Amino acid sequence: MSEPILKGRGLTKRYGKVTALDNCDFDLMPGEILAVIGDNGAGKSTLIKAVSGAVVPDEGEIWLEGQKVAFKTPLEARGAGSRRSTRPSPCRHPVHRRQHVHGAGTAETRHHGPAVPPA
Ligand SMILES: Nc1ncnc2c1ncn2[C@@H]1O[C@H](COP(=O)(O)OP(=O)(O)OP(=O)(O)O)[C@@H](O)[C@H]1O
Ligand SMILES: [Mg+2]
Repeated sequence: MSEPILKGRGLTKRYGKVTALDNCDFDLMPGEILAVIGDNGAGKSTLIKAVSGAVVPDEGEIWLEGQKVAFKTPLEARGAGSRRSTRPSPCRHPVHRRQHVHGAGTAETRHHGPAVPPA
């Protein structure tokens, strides 16, 4: 059994009295495309922002390829291979780790600037 390529545990983000992301756990396995679904305001964007460095969670841990990471900026996350993008997800072919996150973030960042092709 392989290890998750990307893992979140207990991810929580609060804005004052609003808990945007509440104790979120997830595992993204190698080769898996993981969709994040939920009601408006459920915390989908906040989760994607957390794993791509756009917000720093108040609590919880993110593990990328077996290493605990704590991204403080999108640039830092991008350097490690975790980024958001507006491009369509390349679901038809075997995917590289960068493309997993790319797929997870496809709907999130129209404001986020030009996409860079996965390495
Ligand atoms: N920067 C912020 N300041 C204050 N509250 C925020 C902020 N970002 C998100 N929230 C709040 O956190 C909650 C989760 O927001 P988020 O945008 O993550 O949800 P979402 O699942 O992406 O919603 P949608 O389906 O509308 O895109 C909402 O109640 C939202 O108003
Ligand atoms: Mg959203």
